[in-house]
Amino acid sequence: MKGKKLIVANWKMNLLRKESENFALKLVELIKDYTSNVDVVLVPAYTLLDVVYDVIHRTDIQLGAQDVFWKDSGAFTGEVSPYMLKDVGCDWVIIGHSERRNILKETDSMIREKIHASLKAGLKAILCVGETEEERAKGKTVKTVEGQLVSGLKNQALGDISSLAIAYEPVWAIGTGNNATPEEIGYVHSVIRDLLKDILKVSADKLRILYGGSVTHENIREIIFTENVDGALVGGASLDAYAFSNIVKVSGD
Ligand code: PGA
Repeated sequence: MKGKKLIVANWKMNLLRKESENFALKLVELIKDYTSNVDVVLVPAYTLLDVVYDVIHRTDIQLGAQDVFWKDSGAFTGEVSPYMLKDVGCDWVIIGHSERRNILKETDSMIREKIHASLKAGLKAILCVGETEEERAKGKTVKTVEGQLVSGLKNQALGDISSLAIAYEPVWAIGTGNNATPEEIGYVHSVIRDLLKDILKVSADKLRILYGGSVTHENIREIIFTENVDGALVGGASLDAYAFSNIVKVSGD
């Protein structure tokens, strides 16, 4: 796809309010000349959403959450609904991150409900998919990713194609420093695009497919301009404002 790249900072369970405010202030300054070329989304922990929103809401930088629950309201202790995320200023939500699938035991059907509820509430969803080291070793990358896409997306009513993005994040590449090669990434992304056409029954040409897994300011250039890579989901390197700003700048070239 030849549109704007989408660069997403997944801060995971890091930073306190003052730190996140300072980070956002610094980042706004560092990337102010680039946000017309690149879509940038900051995804802090729930407790930081309002602080970050206050800094970025007059800029082109958008806000996202790391997770969501699938009901609108009710007796669901500890959960946060899509409408609550909208209320605090979120445009985006990450769904099905491998840390949630593996550590919190999120199932495909929970992920499916979360996507449905989020789209209904008007949030844009980033569905994460990716194979484990073991699945990769057994040659099951495509099968795994296909299963995750089908169970997350089949029969979902997708109003606008831009309300969905897919993040291909090989689990073995997350936080390990071992990112997939541009060839591997390009191949899996092209398979994902073909699968999306079948699953969604619409043209997936404009649907953004991001890569995630040990993206840094040093390797972003070779990854981001690979065919079928429309953006990046950045974990560790998004916690350094300078490193992250360089990722944004390269992606806007
Ligand atoms: P990483 O994390 O960039 O630290 O590998 C990516 C992610 O989990 O989204």
